[in-house]
Amino acid sequence: MSRPPADPERAELGPPFEITFDGCPVRALPGQSIAAALWAAGILAWRTTRKGGAPRGAFCGIGSCYDCLATVNGRPNRRACLLRARPGDAVTTQEGTGHAELAV
Ligand code: FES
Repeated sequence: MSRPPADPERAELGPPFEITFDGCPVRALPGQSIAAALWAAGILAWRTTRKGGAPRGAFCGIGSCYDCLATVNGRPNRRACLLRARPGDAVTTQEGTGHAELAV
């Protein structure tokens, strides 16, 4: 069983790649979560709350708080802190529940 290196300086990183956030290019690294890539690009909010539309981004960073929900490749309610970025991922701001198109 292999384990990730304990020393991050020894990690072998691949070349950066691009994802998009609301249509704008964002640089990501192999193994990086979507939340980490957005943070590194200076993007701190990618969701709004159902009541009041307050901005939200990553809070706990470990999959517990659900503040980091985003729409990724058209699928809403994806936890950006747990989802590894993949080349070409399209991340968009999620408003409310992410299902506004279903409202009647
Ligand atoms: S930041 Fe808390 S679940 Fe992602």
